Amino acid sequence: MHKSVLLKESIDALDLTPGEVFLDLTYGAGGHTAEVRRRFGENVEVTTLDQDPNTGASIVGNFRDVDTLVEGSRPDAILLDLGISSDQIETSGRGFSFLRDEPLDMRMSESGPSASDILNSWDEHAIELVLRGFADEKFSRKIARAIVDIRETKPLKTTFDLVRAVESVKSRGKSKIHPATKTFQAIRIAVNEELVALEEGLTKSFQILKPGGRLAVISFHSLEDRIVKKFFRELARQEEGTLVYKKPLTPTEEEIDVNPRSRSAKLRVIEKK
Ligand SMILES: C[S@@+](CC[C@H](N)C(=O)[O-])C[C@H]1O[C@@H](n2cnc3c(N)ncnc32)[C@H](O)[C@@H]1O
Repeated sequence: MHKSVLLKESIDALDLTPGEVFLDLTYGAGGHTAEVRRRFGENVEVTTLDQDPNTGASIVGNFRDVDTLVEGSRPDAILLDLGISSDQIETSGRGFSFLRDEPLDMRMSESGPSASDILNSWDEHAIELVLRGFADEKFSRKIARAIVDIRETKPLKTTFDLVRAVESVKSRGKSKIHPATKTFQAIRIAVNEELVALEEGLTKSFQILKPGGRLAVISFHSLEDRIVKKFFRELARQEEGTLVYKKPLTPTEEEIDVNPRSRSAKLRVIEKK
């Protein structure tokens, strides 16, 4: 089951008051929205969005299109809790985990090219760039070579096909970290165009936010956090927004103990002038 990350901190930071409008752009298992409901009941107007059609969000779509998806709405508070949920990893059957043998899909939205489409058609150099650029994988060249070699005889169809390609050039060694961790992260980012979606989602979210409203973003790796940090700093420099915290908030030791997935989380918040 999905455990919401920085739950209290993020909802506190949105500084909602009764009568306001909240937009949850990454509804997932609904944890953050449930916390808003628990605090405010029906006294806050809530709209929820997720690109995964299985979450139960009120709108199914990508937050990169938020301006058209919620046309006319002027929220007082917007939340983006990035990445995938534990439910998607554990029960979606869409190949987000290297620990399960599932179809090599990795699409949150269930549309567009899948991981196997990409891995069986992109040229070797493009695959290498994805592995290096989106996960800093030191073995990017060798892994890309292995993928291309393997697909010449048989296309990669399942997660274990990809795990075998990685393990053919990168041993498990003594590390606790699975050798395919970075490869899976990189391919997932590429399949879902996560970094471009984030850039567009941030710009459009800030555009529709009401003056005085707050945008909170929870990121899970340095590439995401760098984009959020740069975007917020630029808004502050142009005096369009005020940083609510100088440094990002991170989970407490207690939260990391209970939910190890939270260990890399960072919460940044900006208030629109
Ligand atoms: C970490 S989970 C959110 C969990 C949620 N806050 C909770 O507490 O239950 C991230 C969710 O965002 C969705 N998502 C990721 N990128 C998205 C995008 N570009 N547009 C819309 N939804 C997105 C994923 O499908 C996933 O359900």
